[in-house]
Amino acid sequence: MLLLSEEPRYAFGDSTLADRRLALLAQVFEPSSSEFIRKAAAGTVGHVIDLGCGPGYSSQMLANAFPSASVIGLDISEQFIRSAQSRQHGSSKFYIHDVTNDPPPGPPANLMYARYLLTHISDPAGAISRWLSFLSRDGRLLIEENQNIETENPVFVEYLDIMTRMLAGQSNNLYLGPSIGEIASSAGLNCAFDHVTPVRVSDRDTAGMFRMNIETWQHNPFVVENYSHEIVLSIMSLLDQIRASEGDSSSITFNVRQLAFGRE
Ligand SMILES: C[S@@+](CC[C@H](N)C(=O)[O-])C[C@H]1O[C@@H](n2cnc3c(N)ncnc32)[C@H](O)[C@@H]1O
Repeated sequence: MLLLSEEPRYAFGDSTLADRRLALLAQVFEPSSSEFIRKAAAGTVGHVIDLGCGPGYSSQMLANAFPSASVIGLDISEQFIRSAQSRQHGSSKFYIHDVTNDPPPGPPANLMYARYLLTHISDPAGAISRWLSFLSRDGRLLIEENQNIETENPVFVEYLDIMTRMLAGQSNNLYLGPSIGEIASSAGLNCAFDHVTPVRVSDRDTAGMFRMNIETWQHNPFVVENYSHEIVLSIMSLLDQIRASEGDSSSITFNVRQLAFGRE
C-alpha cells in the first residue's frame, strides 16, 4: 500500500478535469473494450483486478461484464481512488496501490485488466511477468494499448506529435501495442488473444479528450521548452472549435491492440 502523501507519477494528472477526460475515454472505448473482455475472458470469472483503474470507469465496465465477480480497482492516485470510491456501488473495492511494486490484495485473480496503463510504466515487460504471477492457474491478463492512431486532421496530427515527443522524453510510448507484441514473442508468453481493433472516434469526442488533456500537459517542462505558448493556445482554440461543432463526423481511427495472456 502507498502512503497517502506520495506523489502520483501519472503523466496526465489526476485533477477533476483528468477524471472527466477518463469518463469520456471510457464512454468512447466502452463498446470495443466490452467486446474484447467478453471474447478474451476464460472459464469462471470470480475475482477481477483492474490495474491502474483511474476513477473506476473501467472497473465499472468489468463489474457489468461479470456481475457475480468481486472486482477490485488499484491505482497510484489517491484522488482517483477517492473518486472511484465516491461512485462505488455493488461489491467493487478500490485501493491506492502501486501495481509495479506491491502484490495486489486478495486471492489470485481469474482476470486482470490493464487499459492504457502500460504506456505509463517504464518496464512493461517486467510488469507483465509480475502480473502473470498473480493470476489463478487458468486466469487471463487482458491488456489494451494503442497500436497506432490514423488521422490526417492537422490539429490532431500536431497534438499527437507533441504527445509522442513528450512521452518519449520520459521513456514512455504512446504507441505501445507493437512493443507488447515483441515482448510477448521474445518472452514466449502464452498469448490467447491478439487483435488490433479499429475504433473510429468522432472528431467532437476526440477534440474533447485531447483538449482536456492539454490542460494537464501544457506545463510539462518538455512542452514549455520546445513549444511556444502561442502554439499551445492555438491548438487549444482549434480543439475548442471542433468540440463545439455539430454532427458526428470522424477523421480519426484509434487502432487498439488487445491482448490476453495466460500463465502457462
Ligand atoms: C489512462 S489511465 C487509465 C484508467 C483506466 N484503466 C481506464 O481505462 O479508464 C492510467 C491510470 O494508471 C494509473 N497508474 C499509472 N502508474 C501506475 C502505477 N504504477 N500503479 C497504479 N496505477 C498507476 C494512473 O494513475 C491512471 O489512473
